[in-house]
Amino acid sequence: MAMTVQTGTTPTLRWIKKDLLGLRELSADEIAFILQTAESFREVSLRPIKKVPTLRGKTVVNLFFEPSTRTRTSFELAAKRLSADIVNLSAQGSSLSKGETVLDTIRNLEALKVDILVIRHGSAGVPHLIASQASSSVINAGDGSHEHPTQALLDLFTIQQKKTRIAGLQVSIIGDIAHSRVARSNIWGLMKMGACVTVCGPPPLIPHRIEDLGVSVTYHLEEAIRQADVLMLLRIQHERQEAQLVPSLREYRMRYGIDRERLAKAKPDVLIMHPGPVNRGVELDSDVADGPYSVILDQVTNGLAVRMAVLYLVSGGLRADEQEG
Ligand code: CP
Repeated sequence: MAMTVQTGTTPTLRWIKKDLLGLRELSADEIAFILQTAESFREVSLRPIKKVPTLRGKTVVNLFFEPSTRTRTSFELAAKRLSADIVNLSAQGSSLSKGETVLDTIRNLEALKVDILVIRHGSAGVPHLIASQASSSVINAGDGSHEHPTQALLDLFTIQQKKTRIAGLQVSIIGDIAHSRVARSNIWGLMKMGACVTVCGPPPLIPHRIEDLGVSVTYHLEEAIRQADVLMLLRIQHERQEAQLVPSLREYRMRYGIDRERLAKAKPDVLIMHPGPVNRGVELDSDVADGPYSVILDQVTNGLAVRMAVLYLVSGGLRADEQEG
């Protein structure tokens, strides 16, 4: 939770949450506070020497039980740019592969006096379980099909950067909504920040009663494209599907893939977003993924500032300039 502190006449927020587990439990003020903090860290990566002493003496552990390129690398770089020490651990290279439980692994890491655990796991709720047992801060880097809060925060940051606002925008999320933690965190985040969200995809990939979250549903791609200020594309998550829910990728592309012709029906200032990894030629053609409306690599760049902000906030530390003041 962020706590309001009165300093003179201007109220400022101080972050007092130990963990970041999801956007469902954050208020709009708390999300805005993270985005504002990320903005203050953005310029660090533009400096010739990309480092500040903010988290000097703190230790961050990246504990990834599932593959990752963007999230893992940007948490590692974020920790390094804040001068923290960082250790990377994966299930294959650790004693988890010899039968040690996750909680025993965490107890052993805590015995080594680490400060922040960044956790990605294939099962929903694992970061929450760890956070309830650990005294270190826990950041959810993606748990099953549940939440991926830093991805949604960097998506919100990118939308705000490109459109100068989030409230009132129409965002269409297209693809495998049922298995997507990115979709779930974005739905919470976008709605709290005042955007209107439509989800679109083949019926087996749209969760039953998702309208209860306040989103609209359409199975017609043209409708999702026509009304959108932002098109957020998702890949089909075969690894999380117990049965094959779409007949073939070729058929998916024919009905739901975004190509140049379909993009021509979008608003002239539409943003194309994708959390990655992109399956080119399936949900997105290369000339759209690499085209002028795409902000996919801006999302990756912004992920660094957002993760620096999150590491800083959960550590409860003050920035070096505040410490001196
Ligand atoms: N968006 C995302 O989570 O990408 P990675 O799986 O590469 O971390």
